[in-house]
Amino acid sequence: MNDTNETVLRIRGLEKTFDTGADRLTIIKDLDLTAPEGAQVAIVGESGSGKSTLLNIIAGLDTPTRGEILVGGRDITSLPEDGLARFRSKFLGLIFQFHYLLQDFSALENVYLPAFMAGEGRKSALERAKTCLEAVGMGHRMNHMPSELSGGERQRVSVARSLINDPRLILADEPTGNLDPANAAMIGELLFSLAGSYKKTLLLVTHDMELAGRAHIRYRLKEGKLQEEPLR
Ligand SMILES: Nc1ncnc2c1ncn2[C@@H]1O[C@H](COP(=O)(O)OP(=O)(O)OP(=O)(O)O)[C@@H](O)[C@H]1O
Ligand SMILES: [Mg+2]
Repeated sequence: MNDTNETVLRIRGLEKTFDTGADRLTIIKDLDLTAPEGAQVAIVGESGSGKSTLLNIIAGLDTPTRGEILVGGRDITSLPEDGLARFRSKFLGLIFQFHYLLQDFSALENVYLPAFMAGEGRKSALERAKTCLEAVGMGHRMNHMPSELSGGERQRVSVARSLINDPRLILADEPTGNLDPANAAMIGELLFSLAGSYKKTLLLVTHDMELAGRAHIRYRLKEGKLQEEPLR
């Protein structure tokens, strides 16, 4: 499982320093991480330990100070802006704590738009969006606007949206952070079971140890590095 083709994510010697004028804050120090195809990886860590910073760097939304980030065998740190946008659209599914659904578009349109923007025809993109919404149990609410959905339902739509372009890697930053315990458990179950059945590689960062407990492997981000975190 560790030849380059099957290694979805390989990070070597990652460093991230923020220069804030008064301060130089090194948040990530010489960090390594490898995730083979189909792995489900959870990263836990205290608030401010750098979890979102790490995920944003992997998504190409932030740049590292130093280090190599290979996603699907390609070093994303050397991609130009348009190449990065294409990489995100084709390779990544992103889920955040806040759903970021477009308020003026229905659930179906929110899920269909990333496929349409990636160049797929309207009819087939709509068909696939319906299939993704059915997979998250939202087939009956497809024509509702985000404001007409509950927090848990909106996050289910976000999960459907993250799957629409058939990504190899799903990155989730506190996907249950805004939800009550029952909805958090439901989204956790959905995310891991869909990642399993569609054989997606899943990397999530969370405070929620129950959610992290569902992953194949857990790490704790502490003092800029990852250490394996046993199940308690
Ligand atoms: N653009 C920035 N400029 C300066 N410092 C930053 C910047 N972005 C993040 N930081 C700092 O980096 C550290 C890590 O932030 P990050 O958001 O990655 O933490 P986190 O582990 O995701 O925390 P939480 O669990 O609260 O979401 C924090 O101390 C934060 O203040
Ligand atoms: Mg965060």
